[in-house]
Amino acid sequence: MLGQLPAVTDKNVLVGSSNADDAGVYRITDDIAVVLTTDFFTPIVDDPYWFGAISAANSLSDVWAMGGRPTVALNIAMFPSSPEFFPSLQRVMQGGIDKMTEAGVAIIGGHTIKDKEPKFGYTVMGLIHPDRILDNSKAKPGDALILTKKIGTGIVSTGVKAGMCSNAVIEEFTLSMATLNRRAGEIMMETGVSTATDITGFGLLGHLNEVLSASRCRARIHAGRVPFFDDAVRLVKNSIAPGGTFGNLKMYAPNTTYSGDVPEYEKILLNDAQTSGGLLIFVPGEKRETLVSALQKEGILAAHIGDVLDAGVRDDKRIIVER
Ligand code: CO
Ligand code: CO
Repeated sequence: MLGQLPAVTDKNVLVGSSNADDAGVYRITDDIAVVLTTDFFTPIVDDPYWFGAISAANSLSDVWAMGGRPTVALNIAMFPSSPEFFPSLQRVMQGGIDKMTEAGVAIIGGHTIKDKEPKFGYTVMGLIHPDRILDNSKAKPGDALILTKKIGTGIVSTGVKAGMCSNAVIEEFTLSMATLNRRAGEIMMETGVSTATDITGFGLLGHLNEVLSASRCRARIHAGRVPFFDDAVRLVKNSIAPGGTFGNLKMYAPNTTYSGDVPEYEKILLNDAQTSGGLLIFVPGEKRETLVSALQKEGILAAHIGDVLDAGVRDDKRIIVER
């Protein structure tokens, strides 16, 4: 849809929509730029409080993925108008407020309209130094790819809706989605990285493809090193996955070469549409161990799942997946 936007002529637009980046960036002064992003969606979990919390964590994520620091947010809510929904709207709001407070972000306004199916999210503004923007064009050959959350929330969510998951599994995947990418973002900025993106609706390979396409690089992923939710593996082997995931699998097939020993279920997992997924960090090879140990010290998953290969390639097969 963004394809039909007119070309941007304002030189203070530092990041627009052309490279499918995580957020837009606009320069205010030589030292200050604002990062702008918005996200809202339909309930991903049954519990209204956690729906609000996850929605907040998800909408903040793009700011950290750009290297920025979120500051203020505007609420977007669509809810049925009948009074019996008010208590759950209140719980959704509270989940969002608590998450925004944890992130140090003030909610300074918003807008609500009536809708049959609830939708909830935020527009977020962050700050960044114009020289420190982690946009999609900055991946370099030799960068290691570090992933900070497990993959499989789309598949697990489909399993939960079908009543196929235990309470323990629901708790694990809810907590993962509600976890802020804040510390991961701060640690990568302290370490100094090439770039980053967050894994959301287009799945691991889709978001990787956006960065590689803008950076004109190829990358190799080791499917066996990608951390998946155990239940996502179990469910996908039973043919449970959301429609969006199969859409991704088809959409990114022209950009991906799978080696013969990668099983079909892993291809689906690698393309699973995520909600509030982790950061995919592109760190220069020599800083990889520093980053991984700094993340792990704070209890953040830091899986080295692959590496960026050569630059300057025009080949559309940018992603090589091996077992
Ligand atoms: Co993003
Ligand atoms: Co986004």
